[in-house]
Amino acid sequence: MLIPVLTIDGPSGAGKGTVSRLIAKKLGWHYLDSGSIYRSLAIAVQKASVGLEAVDEIVKVAQDLVLEFECGDELVVKLDGEDITSQLGLEQTGGIASQIAALPAVRQVLLKKQQDFKQLPGLVADGRDMGTVVFPDAENKVFLTASAEKRAQRRYKQLIEKEIDANLVQIIYEIEARDRRDMERATAPLAMASDALYIDSSDMTIDAVVEEVLNLIR
Ligand code: C5P
Repeated sequence: MLIPVLTIDGPSGAGKGTVSRLIAKKLGWHYLDSGSIYRSLAIAVQKASVGLEAVDEIVKVAQDLVLEFECGDELVVKLDGEDITSQLGLEQTGGIASQIAALPAVRQVLLKKQQDFKQLPGLVADGRDMGTVVFPDAENKVFLTASAEKRAQRRYKQLIEKEIDANLVQIIYEIEARDRRDMERATAPLAMASDALYIDSSDMTIDAVVEEVLNLIR
């Protein structure tokens, strides 16, 4: 039986997570936040005190990765039974995740773990290479982006709301560095699938983006 898949790719902070969650909820589909898998691996690598140059050891940690996802109103992620949700969103975790994500052997190990999320009645998959590598046959693909300044402002607001210290200039710098790393890596770089719908959310509300994506599916 055909399992419908909607892929939403784009750079960090474009609103992929919020939009994907809302659409998955509206459609009653499963949701894959693939970035949280790379982020969880970054935390596991740090916990195992493995250096970022030790590729074989990182691959081993990836192979042994045991994650549980609890999708309520907020996504809860457990690593070996321990709740790591609060560490997932840290800028440092994202930075390490993007360095680890550049390793082809790591991406290969995580490929099947991501494809296993494709289950009835359907899947919304958010990430960088959902439409190009992980689910190339998906019927509906979106590339969601926004200017680096807008994405940094949103990130800044989120952090302040969570009462986490933040510096806007530093965030813009980190977002641009991560974009470069994600776009310039040799394996599965952040790129728009040729059959994806391009949406620039810089001046759009979340509701307007959700409506445009739902129109695509309809
Ligand atoms: O989306 P998020 O910011 O949580 O992703 C963290 C990092 O994981 C990204 O910067 C990217 O390097 C990596 N990633 C990836 N492929 C995906 C999802 C995330 O390489 N499908």
